[in-house]
Amino acid sequence: MSVVVTVGCQWGDEGKGKIIDFLCREADVVIRHQGGNNAGHTILVEGQKYIFHIVPSGILKPDSMNIIGNGVVVDPFKLLEEMDHLTAQGIRITPERLKISGQAHVIMPYHRQLDGLEEERRGGKGIGTTRRGIGPAYMDKVARYGVRLYDLLHEDILRKRVEAILPLKNAIIQQVYHGQPLDPDELLASLNACGRRLAPFITDTTEVVEQVLAEGKKILCEGAQGTMLDIDFGTYPYLTSSNTTAGGVCTGSAIPPHKISTVLGIAKAYTTRVGEGPFPTELFGEEADRLRNAGPVGEYGATTGRPRRCGWLDIPQMRYACRVSGITHIALTRLDILSAVPEIHVATAYFDQAGQARPVLSADINVLGECRPVYETLPSWREDISTITRYEDLPRAAQAYVKAVEDWLKVPVAMISVGPQRHQTIVRQHLF
Ligand code: GDP
Ligand code: IMO
Ligand code: MG
Repeated sequence: MSVVVTVGCQWGDEGKGKIIDFLCREADVVIRHQGGNNAGHTILVEGQKYIFHIVPSGILKPDSMNIIGNGVVVDPFKLLEEMDHLTAQGIRITPERLKISGQAHVIMPYHRQLDGLEEERRGGKGIGTTRRGIGPAYMDKVARYGVRLYDLLHEDILRKRVEAILPLKNAIIQQVYHGQPLDPDELLASLNACGRRLAPFITDTTEVVEQVLAEGKKILCEGAQGTMLDIDFGTYPYLTSSNTTAGGVCTGSAIPPHKISTVLGIAKAYTTRVGEGPFPTELFGEEADRLRNAGPVGEYGATTGRPRRCGWLDIPQMRYACRVSGITHIALTRLDILSAVPEIHVATAYFDQAGQARPVLSADINVLGECRPVYETLPSWREDISTITRYEDLPRAAQAYVKAVEDWLKVPVAMISVGPQRHQTIVRQHLF
């Protein structure tokens, strides 16, 4: 039995795509269990760049099975665009290789529209969403106003569903936001066309998951976003609308909890965040630019192209991530970027309002803005480490940094990434 769950330890964009692609070489099945096309997972292989938004990154491996689980919200138009784009890049996408849960909820065009309209309404005080309709789709799921992929397989049922829901959505679009209403017939025609194309891929993935578990297949769960964007545990309300932490795997894919063998937390060697919300170790000006622009690929969003906010590694935040997901191993990415800084700072505790040092981020994020990080300084190594493949060959200061992270978190660093390419990976412990 081998189920490896990957979790973003920070605010997303930790390099999950790169690590998942590396681990895929040993996995038989890759499952996405939450989020939607707000995710942007970048993979570089032999000079070719792939960005996955909704299709599991495992699709690059020719003999893998890939599952989009029930916990994902699926924009059928964007999914088909992504499938077409990947096909044009030479990737074979067949119903045997890609299975999509019929229980997954559909991101409807009005969800996308409402996400954008709400961000506009809030002006500069919004969440800074990706405007992909993620929040509105999950809202409707919980409110029981959702449409599921199974519904796209039955034109008559879909019509009844849309006729029941669309008048309310159009009223909100027009009367609250003064936006353009959607035409029900056009909407249905376009959804039916998506349904016809997606039908061979839509299935009962609970049965598929049960079967691959029974066959003893190696399963990799591909987390999207990161711990601090988790709807329950993150920096509410500046977060996404799904459970990005390890628990989301069970409800989002029907993997039973006791089948999970490993929880791999993926973290950058420093911290980034895109969108609004608190960020205790954030840097500004030149210091932020140095982290943002170092290395072959700068810190700009893979989905929206926005510049990412950059700051130092935040251990209280990471301890909290380890706590809420039961992280058993860490993959530390973008270590090569720290070659660009003269010395490294790491927050190892926060001073709270009373001046007391706290080792772990408080669950009451209302006080996060007032916490002052306590920094420790470590020496940097100025040499290029991007070609190193063995831990022992890393400069002493880089080894000391990794060791310090392990000591602070009390979790082993199983993998170290020193560049965006597959081969730029140091493995210290095999997870499958
Ligand atoms: P994800 O959303 O967690 O998959 O991460 P993104 O793909 O959004 O952002 C991570 C970025 O860092 C991508 O451009 C990757 O190609 C790149 N990357 C991943 N690992 C490394 C690394 O170790 N070093 C460098 N320099 N870049 C990396
Ligand atoms: P990956 O999988 C980084 C952020 C958005 C915004 C907030 C809510 O690539 O790590 P949403 O559109 O989900 O309602 O936006 O969450 N966000 C991400 N930030 N990486 C992501 O995904 C993200 N997905 C959403 O910027 O602040
Ligand atoms: Mg990303």
